[in-house]
Amino acid sequence: MPALPEPRGAASEALLAALRTPPHPDLALPEPDDDEDLQLSLYCCYELHYRGFDDVAEAWEWDPSLLAFRAGLERRFEADMLALAGSPEAPADEMDVALRELEASDEAPSLSKYVEREATAAQVEELLIHRSAYQLKEADPHSWVLPRLWGGPKAAMVEIQADEYGGGRADRIHAELFAGSMRALGLDSAYGAYLDRIPGVTLSTVNLMSLLGLHRSRRGAIAGHLAMFEMTSSIPNRRYAAGLRRLGHGEDATAFFDVHVVADAVHESVAAVDLAGGLARQEPALAPDILWGARALLAVEGRWATHLLTAWEQGRSSLLAGARSPAAA
Ligand SMILES: [Fe+2]
Ligand SMILES: [Fe+2]
Repeated sequence: MPALPEPRGAASEALLAALRTPPHPDLALPEPDDDEDLQLSLYCCYELHYRGFDDVAEAWEWDPSLLAFRAGLERRFEADMLALAGSPEAPADEMDVALRELEASDEAPSLSKYVEREATAAQVEELLIHRSAYQLKEADPHSWVLPRLWGGPKAAMVEIQADEYGGGRADRIHAELFAGSMRALGLDSAYGAYLDRIPGVTLSTVNLMSLLGLHRSRRGAIAGHLAMFEMTSSIPNRRYAAGLRRLGHGEDATAFFDVHVVADAVHESVAAVDLAGGLARQEPALAPDILWGARALLAVEGRWATHLLTAWEQGRSSLLAGARSPAAA
C-alpha cells in the first residue's frame, strides 16, 4: 500500500492527520483552500475504496463523518465539472452517432502528436508519472458500475473490462503493462509512488471517474465516459508508442501502448454502440448523462493536456516541485 501524501492546504492537512488516527465520529474538516487542496483531499477519500494507504484504518472507508466530508468535496467538484463541461443535454441523434460527433468536435490540443514528434525523454517520463495516477488502477473506476448494469450494456462492459484485466493473464493486465513501461523508463512503478508530484489538474481526471463510478445515479455518465475513453484511445496510443521508439525505447516500454492500438480499435465500437448506445436504449432517461460523461472526459483531458503542453512550452516541469522531478534532474 502507498504512504499518505503530503498535504496541499487546510482540508488535506486535516484529513491526512485524521487518517493517521482511528476513525472517530466527531470528525470536522475544513473546506479546501483551492483546487489543489480539493483534488488531493477527494483523491485520498476515494483511494480508501481502492487500495487504501499504509497505516490507515480500513474502517475509515465507510466512516459516516468522512463520507459527509467527501460529499461536500463532491458538491464543489461537480459544480466545477458542470462549469467546465456544460450541463447535460439530450443527444440530437442515436447515442453512438452523437458520441462520434462529439469526438469530431473536440478541439483540445494533441498531446500525443507532440509526444510522437518532439517530446524529450524527461517530458515522456513526466507523462508516465501523470498517467500513473490512473493507469496503475486502469479500468477499476469504471468497474464500480458493473453491478448497476444488466443485459446488453453489462455484457459489453464485461467484454471490454476482461481485456483491460488481461483476459485471465496477470502479466497482460493493462495496469501491469503500464507498470512495465514505467520500469523500462527507469521510473518507480509502485502504486502511488508519485502522488506528491501529481498536480490537481491530473488528479481531477481520476476523481471524475471515481465520482461517476461510485454513485449509482451517475451510471449513465460513467458509461459515456468509458465509451469516449475507448473511442479516443487507439490513435493517441499509436503516437505515444512512436514517440517512445523515436527516443530509443524498445518493446518493454511500448507494450502498454501497442496493446491499446489494437484493443481499443475493437473496444471503441463495443463501448459506443453496445455499452453507451445499449444503455440509452434500455434507460432513455439516462441519455443526457451518458453524453455528459463523454463531454466531461474530453473537458478534463483537454485541460490536462493544455497544462502539460503549456508547462513544456515554457521550459518547466508539468509536475509539482520536488526532488524527484525527472525534468529537473
Ligand atoms: Fe486498457
Ligand atoms: Fe480499452
